[in-house]
Amino acid sequence: MRRLEWWQKAVFYQIYPRSFADGNGDGVGDFAGMTRRLDYLQDLGIDAIWLSPFYPSPQCDCGYDVSNYTDVAPEYGTLSDFRDFVSQAHQRNIRVIIDFVINHTSHEHPWFAESRSGRGNPKRDWYIWKDGRGGAPPNGWFSCFGGPAWELDRLTQQYYYHYFLKQQPDLNWRNPEVRRAMFDVVRFWLDLGVDGFRIDAPGTLFEDADLRESSQARSQAELYLALHQARTSEERLRASEALESLYERQVERPEVHEVMQGLRALVDTYGDGVLVGEVDDPSYHGNGTDELQLVFNFPLMRAESLRPAQIRANQSERLSRLPPGAWPCNTLGNHDSSRVWSHFADGRHDAELARLSLALMLTLRGTPFLYYGEEIGMTDLLLTDASGFRDYLSKWLYQQEIEVLGSSPAEALRNAAMLGRDKCRTPMQWSTLANAGFSPSGARTWLPVNPNFAHGVNVEGQLAVSGSMLEFYRALLRLRRSSYALTAGSWQVLAADQADCLAFLRKVDDQDLLVVLNWSDRPQLLHLNLEGARLTAPPRPSDATADRPAVASRVLFSTHRQQGHGAGLDELRIAPFEVLIAEVDLPPHRPARQEE
Ligand code: GLC
Repeated sequence: MRRLEWWQKAVFYQIYPRSFADGNGDGVGDFAGMTRRLDYLQDLGIDAIWLSPFYPSPQCDCGYDVSNYTDVAPEYGTLSDFRDFVSQAHQRNIRVIIDFVINHTSHEHPWFAESRSGRGNPKRDWYIWKDGRGGAPPNGWFSCFGGPAWELDRLTQQYYYHYFLKQQPDLNWRNPEVRRAMFDVVRFWLDLGVDGFRIDAPGTLFEDADLRESSQARSQAELYLALHQARTSEERLRASEALESLYERQVERPEVHEVMQGLRALVDTYGDGVLVGEVDDPSYHGNGTDELQLVFNFPLMRAESLRPAQIRANQSERLSRLPPGAWPCNTLGNHDSSRVWSHFADGRHDAELARLSLALMLTLRGTPFLYYGEEIGMTDLLLTDASGFRDYLSKWLYQQEIEVLGSSPAEALRNAAMLGRDKCRTPMQWSTLANAGFSPSGARTWLPVNPNFAHGVNVEGQLAVSGSMLEFYRALLRLRRSSYALTAGSWQVLAADQADCLAFLRKVDDQDLLVVLNWSDRPQLLHLNLEGARLTAPPRPSDATADRPAVASRVLFSTHRQQGHGAGLDELRIAPFEVLIAEVDLPPHRPARQEE
């Protein structure tokens, strides 16, 4: 078996710097706070951190609008604080990757200030400037954050293009100077010792050069209305596909792959850095070794609910589409989505469902990305006052609800809070102290702290309580570290007809692990076809013990049974919502079939 790279073995933990730990008491997270919490992360058992943007920014899109790529915003600290954070993380064997917002800058970036200053400015062509059509924008393209994708600049009477907010003008990646400047940014951070980058929205890097219109005839408002009115998951799927098709000319142009190749070549010159893209299309792996090492399995994250059949279908589809040499990457939450706990809750078994989801993340084949606060079961917080929205998207949705859809203020507030992203960005809950120990008492935090910190959803409380979510998480992370099969092992589905239980094997040469996750509130009786599993890797002809039946030799982890106990597999009884991981004795041991 080939040696695994560090990012194949690692569990990543995403930190949203504004919300992790406030070191100076101003209500906003910072590097001083994050550095102090590194011991906690080390004890938790993660291997790498992804930092969302911490660069100078007017914060129109919570930092994804960068006004200086090579500095730290004063509210988070200084470059020296950043260096200190990285070096202290490295001392604890924790790698650090940073967000690279590549498609657009802030409108306050000096490059844009120069570019907009005159048609003849040498940086004019660093952004996408076009003439209008008799008082109208150059074409009918939309910004995915609402409204036209073109903004008229009065000074020069031309329009600039922005796929996101008008405060986020798109860079012109067809200009080689832009490419050089952005690659210099990459060098700057690699020289400072970062271990890689999460590439923000690469699919939006290029748009149709001839500005052709979308074939979608309905307007953005109509498509949002259809999404709003969809009642079944089928209708929601169709409505969101229709909405996506509105942007078909503005995303996923083939040129993007050449940029990814360039980035990969550059990062490779520094050693073993990793690139993970905010995309789910396996084509971003290139030939498997020349573009991004990791792309996210977003279809799993976006599933309305997690059910065994969907997970099996998802895995079989994803794994079969990976080019040779590429590696899967799973996540169930980030700063743009609902928190795992809230997303998969049914109102009755929320805690059990959250544990199953997280167990799934840590047992599937591929690199897991976890989101801060998942480990203590943080939930979405729906704001109850529209003036408290910090995410532009929530503000826009609120206004649309009232002005376009005619919703009542209460309904508009609820929908905007649900569809916007403030809900999953609230401060980390460290203790039962005021402000959940995120900021000192008396500080006004940038988003409100979820009041459930006082009811057990906090780190300190859960460290002290046996059976807590945090304990569950730490135990699984420990197990993942100590069981090579959970990182390197192949993936093989068992009992594929089971509606409620997901059962699979993770196999390496000298270890076979059985994972069973029961998604139902009823006990299940499983007849696992391990005979079949054994036969997928034929025994050597000389092996006399080949026909011995398989047994689960040892429980390594279970929510319901004692570690170390045995479990028969012919008739395996699984408790409601049980998570079971057992080492299986499949005599004889033989070279496992690897899907690497
Ligand atoms: C990515 C980020 C999101 C941001 C957008 C524009 O999707 O994850 O938070 O709003 O890019 O930069």
